[in-house]
Amino acid sequence: MTVISAPYDVNVDDVFVDLKPVFGVPLHLKYEGINLAGSVKLKAALSMVLAAESGGILSPGDVLVESSSGNLGVALSMIAAHRGYGFVCVTDSRCNPASKRMMEAYGARVLVISRPDKVHGLLGARIEYVRRLCEYDPNYVWLNQYVNEHNWLAHYRTTAPSVAAEFPELDVLFVGAGTTGTLMGCARYFREQQRPVKIVAVDSVGSVTFGGPALTRHIPGLGAGIRPQMLDRSLVDDVVMVPEQDTLERCHAMAKQGFLFGGSTGTVVSGALRWLAEHPGSERLTTVALSPDQGDRYLDSVYDPEWVEQHFGSPGGWDGGAAAPARPALVTSGV
Ligand SMILES: Cc1ncc(COP(=O)(O)O)c(C=O)c1O
Repeated sequence: MTVISAPYDVNVDDVFVDLKPVFGVPLHLKYEGINLAGSVKLKAALSMVLAAESGGILSPGDVLVESSSGNLGVALSMIAAHRGYGFVCVTDSRCNPASKRMMEAYGARVLVISRPDKVHGLLGARIEYVRRLCEYDPNYVWLNQYVNEHNWLAHYRTTAPSVAAEFPELDVLFVGAGTTGTLMGCARYFREQQRPVKIVAVDSVGSVTFGGPALTRHIPGLGAGIRPQMLDRSLVDDVVMVPEQDTLERCHAMAKQGFLFGGSTGTVVSGALRWLAEHPGSERLTTVALSPDQGDRYLDSVYDPEWVEQHFGSPGGWDGGAAAPARPALVTSGV
């Protein structure tokens, strides 16, 4: 029996899905969504809150404010409710309705930004809004996931060591990039190992993180309209850019096998499959990809035929998860 006294005490770090039966390649997917906040962002949220408390930045009664595409907001709402803080989440129109309702159920206030900044998109507009809130009221505490070292440290201390413990022969790790906290924490950890692991970042076409042009994106989680300050490109071996249509195809293909994953899992898996297909001998490699969350929050988007048709067109624009070859994804090698 497991008895918990805090909602963030549930954290399962050793479940991996073998995707070989689904896609025919050696790829294990680390399930990061098995906790009560439902996503990998619980680790970053808890790490940043605990560090702020011990650093004297945060005390009971304070009001946290943060920009989030949804998952960090859900995790902070849960932690704030349990530890006695207020919480204001500044998100944007891509936030899943389920995530918004969940934050509100925990007592958070959710502000939805729908007008993008002319240069830095919706993320730029969200950050500007948080900045102005903090200027207006000094009682707001902004942990700022985009620059806070306790974001990447969470993954350096937990995610990467738990992958290493289960896969001592790991060759390649595929990690999606949002704030790049997960990516940087894992990259730093494996860079320090005696047997270096190749780190492959996976991002959405339309994200500017790795230098591509800013384009409209519809699926929350991965990608950024502003280059993340936390990113150290020298720690990343390869980058794969994935079109959102491929994300949908991979999500639906896994759902047809009984695994309902969130949008960014589809992106990371798509990038991993592309990378493996382009590297001769990859069938002998030991590889792991990180799955940030499960699919239940995406029932109104990725898994809603009307939403898909509205944003990606009718079947033909994408193939509904059938076994068609993936569209080309840009792969850049080296640093
Ligand atoms: C679903 C999902 N995938 C991926 C990420 C990216 O993680 P990170 O911010 O550590 O790069 C996030 C971040 O919010 C997310 O919510």
